[in-house]
Amino acid sequence: MLENTVLVTGSGRRIGFHLASRLHQEGYAVLAHYRTHTDEIQALHNLGIETIQADFNNSAAILQFVDDLKLRCSSFRALIHNASSFAPTSTELAVAAEQYEQFFNVHMMAPFLINQGLQSLLLGIDDNPADIIHITDINVENPTPRFDIYGTTKAGLHNMMLVLAKKFAPQIKVNAIAPGPVLFTEQHSQEVQQQMLAETPLAKEGGVEPVYLAVKSVLENPFLTGASIPVDGGRRLSKR
Ligand SMILES: NC(=O)c1ccc[n+]([C@@H]2O[C@H](COP(=O)([O-])OP(=O)(O)OC[C@H]3O[C@@H](n4cnc5c(N)ncnc54)[C@H](OP(=O)(O)O)[C@@H]3O)[C@@H](O)[C@H]2O)c1
Repeated sequence: MLENTVLVTGSGRRIGFHLASRLHQEGYAVLAHYRTHTDEIQALHNLGIETIQADFNNSAAILQFVDDLKLRCSSFRALIHNASSFAPTSTELAVAAEQYEQFFNVHMMAPFLINQGLQSLLLGIDDNPADIIHITDINVENPTPRFDIYGTTKAGLHNMMLVLAKKFAPQIKVNAIAPGPVLFTEQHSQEVQQQMLAETPLAKEGGVEPVYLAVKSVLENPFLTGASIPVDGGRRLSKR
C-alpha cells in the first residue's frame, strides 16, 4: 500500500506532468493519474512514479476511481486537482449541453467525489494539516465570454475550495492556484497570444515551473487555507 501519497490528476501532459515530476524530485510519494497513456506517463513510470488511469466522464467512473485509490493507498498527503477540459463554448446548443456535462464532470464532480471519498485518508504529518489543491484559472475572477462553460465550471471548483476549507478544517487545508497565461494551447491563435501578452504586466508566457512553485509554497505553509493564489504575471488586473 502507498502511504502519504500525493495524487496529481491529469499528469499525462504539460502542467500535470511537470507537477508530478517535480514533486517526485522533491521526495513526495506521487501517484500520477492520467486519462490517455502518453510518452510523458511512460517517462513518469520510468522515474519510478506510480500511475493510475481513469476517465472522469461520469459519476460511476469517478466512484470506481475512488475505490481503486482506496485499494492502492492507505493515506494521502495531498490531492491536486489539475485535470481539465478547455474549449470555447459551442454555438450549437446540443453540443454546448454535452460540453457542460463533460466540463462539469471533470472540473466539479470528480474533485468533489475524490475529496469527499478520501477525506478520512488525508493525513497531515507532524501535527500539520494535509492538503487539497484545486487548479482553477483567472477566468474565475474575470471570465472570458467565449469560454463561459469552461469558466463557470472552474468557478464552481473555486467555490468548492472555499466551502471545503471550512468543512474539512482543521485536519485538511484546501486552497486554489489560479494560472493565467502559463502555456498557450492550440485554442490560442497568434493574434490572441499577442493580445494576452499585451494584457499581462509581466509580458510573457509564464511556463510550468511557476505553477509548481505555487504548489510547493502551499504544501509547505501550515497556516494557509481557503486561499486562491494567482500565477498569471498580473493578467487578472488588466484582462478585458
Ligand atoms: N495552460 C495554461 O496556461 C493554463 C491557464 C489557466 C489555467 N490552467 C489550468 O491548469 C491546469 C493544467 O493546464 P494544462 O494546460 O496543462 O491542461 P491540458 O493540457 O488541457 O491537460 C489537461 C489534462 O487533463 C486530462 N483530462 C481532461 N479531461 C479528462 C477527463 N474527463 N478525465 C480524466 N482526465 C482528463 C487530460 O487528459 P488527456 O491527455 O487524456 O486529454 C490532460 O492530461 C488545468 O486545470 C487548466 O485549467 C492552465
